Amino acid sequence: MKKLISILLVLVMLVCICAACSTAANGKPSIGCTIYKFDDTFMTSVRNTIAAEAKDASGNEIATVDIVDCQNSQPTCNDKIDMFITKKVSALAINMVDRTASGVIIDKAKAAKTPIVFFNREPLAEDMAKWDKVYYVGAHAEESGVMEGQMLIDYWKANPTMDTNKDGVMQYVLIKGEPGHQDSEARAKYSVETIEKAGIKTEQLAVDFANWDRVKGQEKMAAFLTSNSGKIEAVIACNDDMALGAIEALKAAGYFTADKFMPVVGVDATAPGLAAIKEGTLLGTAYNDGINQGKATFKLAYLLAKGEKPTKENVGYDIVDGKYVWVPYKGITKANMSEVPQ
Ligand code: GAL
Ligand code: CA
Repeated sequence: MKKLISILLVLVMLVCICAACSTAANGKPSIGCTIYKFDDTFMTSVRNTIAAEAKDASGNEIATVDIVDCQNSQPTCNDKIDMFITKKVSALAINMVDRTASGVIIDKAKAAKTPIVFFNREPLAEDMAKWDKVYYVGAHAEESGVMEGQMLIDYWKANPTMDTNKDGVMQYVLIKGEPGHQDSEARAKYSVETIEKAGIKTEQLAVDFANWDRVKGQEKMAAFLTSNSGKIEAVIACNDDMALGAIEALKAAGYFTADKFMPVVGVDATAPGLAAIKEGTLLGTAYNDGINQGKATFKLAYLLAKGEKPTKENVGYDIVDGKYVWVPYKGITKANMSEVPQ
């Protein structure tokens, strides 16, 4: 009888320990992950990396990662996060739809003691400060804006014909991502500021949002070409998909044939973006390193899920202000495009 009681006690203790670190039934830490929209080229590379990192070199799962699609709806995202919390996942890896809605999510995660790693859509600083088990993985978008600007400066200096109306001013159109998205705002601001700082005057002929989307980028560019026929000298797009859409519209308007060229810059260095650089339509891009963003996101969530404190040593990335991992961009043109991992 005594033996039976002690066996039972040990069993009860094991169950308690397991519940405390909320590992999944299979004993592996569980991570609940959301993606703002599966149908997004850059986020697909981040998503695939997170899924791949959950396996060791021999293909065995080291963590159970459930990745779900928020379908570009914050209410859907909230429901998915509630479900993860109810299921008692050991950590959350969250790509928000609306980054300004992060405060509520952090409150819920904190109440459930579930550590949370946001990525790609940066919560406001005041929300990040709500709890010490909140992290963010992303990139400083101003870097990519500066790179886009620099590519246009280089092209302008090397090709005086770019100034088609010979007024010494760069007439450009701007295709932004989404209103309020930190990457869109910073790329738009710093690309133009960089050109101005180099002593080149600029004039914005038109600006619009195309939600990071290729088809929308094409539609906006077609509209710009109609309203500013013959006046546009450069296209600044806040990502490659929108740049590629713009290139489609430009091709339809007779560009990229014989000597009719339009310098178009983007960000991400996606596979189709690189193909366009190779064919000579996309002038350049800034490599948005989704592989390292995915790796850092997984590693942080994994360590937190196991109850460990992330440090530079165990994560493998600098942790700034105790909660931010910043992955650098890299400027890419035809000359160095082979440096982008494929
Ligand atoms: C940006 C990226 C865009 C889009 C967006 C989604 O960093 O450049 O292509 O994926 O994130 O939030
Ligand atoms: Ca001009």
